[in-house]
Parts: sequence; C-alpha cells; structure tokens
Amino acid sequence: MRKRILIPWAMLGRGKEVLKKSKSEVRYLHGPKGELPTLKELIQAVCQADVLVPRGTQPVPQEVILSNPNLLGIANYGVGYDNIDIATATQLGIPVTNTPGVLTETTADLAWALLMATARKIPQARDFVLSGQWKGPGGKVFMGQDIGPGGSNKPKTLGIIGFGKIGQAVMRRSRGFKMNVIAYDPLMKEEIEKKRGMEYRELDDLLGKSDFVTLHCPLTKETHHLIGVRELELMKPTAILVNTSRGPVVDEKALVSALQKGRIAGAGLDVYEEEPELSPGLSQLENVVLLPHIGSATQDTREQMAVVAARNAVAMARGKKPLNIINPEVFQSTKYLQK
Ligand SMILES: NC(=O)c1ccc[n+]([C@@H]2O[C@H](COP(=O)([O-])OP(=O)(O)OC[C@H]3O[C@@H](n4cnc5c(N)ncnc54)[C@H](O)[C@@H]3O)[C@@H](O)[C@H]2O)c1
Repeated sequence: MRKRILIPWAMLGRGKEVLKKSKSEVRYLHGPKGELPTLKELIQAVCQADVLVPRGTQPVPQEVILSNPNLLGIANYGVGYDNIDIATATQLGIPVTNTPGVLTETTADLAWALLMATARKIPQARDFVLSGQWKGPGGKVFMGQDIGPGGSNKPKTLGIIGFGKIGQAVMRRSRGFKMNVIAYDPLMKEEIEKKRGMEYRELDDLLGKSDFVTLHCPLTKETHHLIGVRELELMKPTAILVNTSRGPVVDEKALVSALQKGRIAGAGLDVYEEEPELSPGLSQLENVVLLPHIGSATQDTREQMAVVAARNAVAMARGKKPLNIINPEVFQSTKYLQK
C-alpha cells in the first residue's frame, strides 16, 4: 500500500517535486491563501496519514500525536522543533526530523540586518521620510549607535548566546566590523575558546559586557525566559538585544518594561512569545524594530528547506533512517521496530 504523507500547509514547489517523484500518496491540507488547518482538522487528517510534515512553528501537541500512534514519522519544516511534543513522539516510537544547515546563512543575514536596523534606527528613519516629516537640516536627526569602531575608534562588543550553526554564522559577519566577540553556550565552551579572537563568557558576564546581545539558542525548558528582568538589569543601558531564536527565550513583558524605562537602548525582534500577538506596549515603543518571523524567509532557502523536509518524510515513509533525526533513540525502541 502507498504510504500517505500529510502536508498541512502550502508547501513550496521543489519540496512538492520530491514528494511527487516518491510516488507516495500526498495530501495537502490548507486554505486558499495557505491558511493552516484548525487543531481538530489536523487531528482528523493525522489519523489518515503515515507521515506528518508540519510547517515550522505549526503546533503539534500531544493530542495530535496520540491521535495516531502508528505514525511512521514527523518531518518538521524548520530547524527549531519546539512546536512538536518530542517526548510523546519518542515514547510512541515516532522519529522526528528537522531541516538544519540550509537556513543557517539566511537566518544569520536576517539577525545581522536586524542588529544594524535597530542600531541605526532605519525603519524609524524611513517612516519619517515617507510620512513627509523630513524638512531638511535643523530638524530631527536619527542618532544611532556604532556597530563598527566609529568616530572614537573603540571596537564594540558582540555577545552571542547559543554558538551553534547560526550563532557561528553571525560571528563570521561581525568580523568585517572589527568587533570583540564573546559567546555563551555551555555545550560549545571548548569550541569557542579555540576560536581566534573570541572569548567564552558565562551568561551574566556576557550580558554586562556586550554592546549587542544576539540570541541563537533553541527554545527548551532551560532557555525559556533565559532573558528576564534580572538579565535585562545586567545589560548596559546602551545595549541592544536582538532575538531571531524563539520568542519565549525572552520574557517579553520584562523586555517591554526595560525598553520603556530606558534600561536598555533597543531591541530588534523577529520572534515573539505568543505569535502573532505582541505584548502590550511593544508596538508603541520607538526603540524597537519588529519583524514577522522571517529569519529563513528567502525563496531559495525556503525551497531548500521544503526539499529537506520532503526527503526526510519520504525516507520515514519507506521505513528508512532519515538524515536529520532529532530523537535517534526511537530506532532502538520496540514500538518503532513493531511498525
Ligand atoms: N527566526 C527564524 O526564523 C529562525 C530561523 C532558523 C532558526 N531559528 C532558531 O534558531 C535556533 C538555532 O538554530 P541553529 O541552526 O543555530 O541550531 P544549532 O543547534 O546549530 O545551535 C543551537 C546552539 O544553542 C546552544 N544552546 C542550547 N542550550 C543553550 C543554553 N541554555 N544557553 C546557551 N546556548 C544553548 C546549543 O549548544 C547549540 O550550540 C533554532 O533552534 C531556532 O529556534 C529561528
């Protein structure tokens, strides 16, 4: 019998090609403009599927996974997988995959763009021009902050939290700006210490020393609200926080309050605690740059992510080991072996 692969979102063309060639039975489930199905619709469809391919941050909670314990796999379209109840999947012998690597450079570009846009107030200045408020010399000037050494010729310090693929790609971008780079990542301490021109710092130390703090860790129990009231208090009043990881890594209410009080100078955010909702007060702030979760959003990268997700899905549908496995321990479990 042909295996059934469920895509509950509008997958891109190159991924569809992979699925078509696999000769699996593919079901696409979404609204005319790519609207995602409701939880109830998703559960109903998952009951009729062998492999599920969720879209990045699309929630796959316990009730979805429990609705079909016979699933052969879940192939997430995204590198982060905090949207999926991995523990339940693992218990039921369901392998879960993600799409690491293909989006690294694109997301690092966005983090860097956000850092620069926030430091130099680019969206605010653009709005000023477009709204006809610019009357020439003598009016408002958008004074920004240096990213490179600037007029005083003092290098700035970049603090990277999470020194995995994207964190390292951000570090490479900072080289042209002659920055001091420090990083915090308990699992990468040795790697960081080996890198030329870099230093390892514990979190509190990094926060106190950085002019820019950029977040690149996954969302886990340990990183939930990693940056809260106490951590924001440790940052320099001139510092800028950039978040392209996951919203809940930052306590958003605490961030709004710190920005309102001028405890830190600004924030560039691509991700939020309750997307697409923003914490009260966030959108009224002058010192923020807010983007709608577009870290990996270039045509080429999103297409390639679709290819990787589709390949992982096809492998799992065929009972083969996929390339990007998150919970490899399932392959030893009797529940998996019995499928
Ligand atoms: N905004 C977007 O659209 C977008 C796009 C891609 C990725 N992301 C997010 O970026 C994250 C990182 O992606 P990646 O490809 O670099 O992943 P990665 O696995 O290569 O790197 C993550 C790093 O975080 C470190 N880490 C784990 N726990 C930590 C902690 N408590 N403190 C500090 N560091 C910790 C890990 O050791 C690892 O080195 C993803 O998990 C995802 O949530 C967001």
